[in-house]
Amino acid sequence: MTVAIYAGSFDPITNGHVAIIRSGLVAFEKIVVAGLNNPNKTSLFSVDERLEMIREAFPGDDRLEVDQFEGLLVHYCQARGVRVVLRGLRAVADFEQEIQMANMNRHMSRDIETFFVMAADYFFVSSSHVKEAASLGGRIEGTVPDGVAARLRAKFAT
Ligand code: PNS
Repeated sequence: MTVAIYAGSFDPITNGHVAIIRSGLVAFEKIVVAGLNNPNKTSLFSVDERLEMIREAFPGDDRLEVDQFEGLLVHYCQARGVRVVLRGLRAVADFEQEIQMANMNRHMSRDIETFFVMAADYFFVSSSHVKEAASLGGRIEGTVPDGVAARLRAKFAT
């Protein structure tokens, strides 16, 4: 079975992430969506909330597994026996960062390949901008799954 790991912070999952996962499912039979559990990194949503929102965005899709990981992504890939990392590319600014991460991962583990997908329809969407907009009362509908928009509104309700 061709399996890819799509890792990220997903704080929270956006429609950009959803689109990358859907594109990935065209090429891979299964995708493991792995949320980073990093106690040293401040996140708006707990890891459990973040994973729950990912599951809610793909109800009943058995080609998707939602998991969490700590530490290095390459170690998680090795532990899972998966050789493909899926990443999304938005603007040119992503490219430098992503090429560095892909090369660092390759340096640490020659067995792992990074596959990139263009986030064409949602190139302007990022979790951090969505959070900022939501915190300031801006319109976020359409940038995140409906359930995520509701949770964001609840977080910032005064
Ligand atoms: O899409 P994101 O939220 O920027 O995700 C980044 C993520 C979680 C994939 C990346 O930061 C990561 O893999 N972190 C774990 C530590 C690691 O392996 N870093 C990469 C090479 S040092």
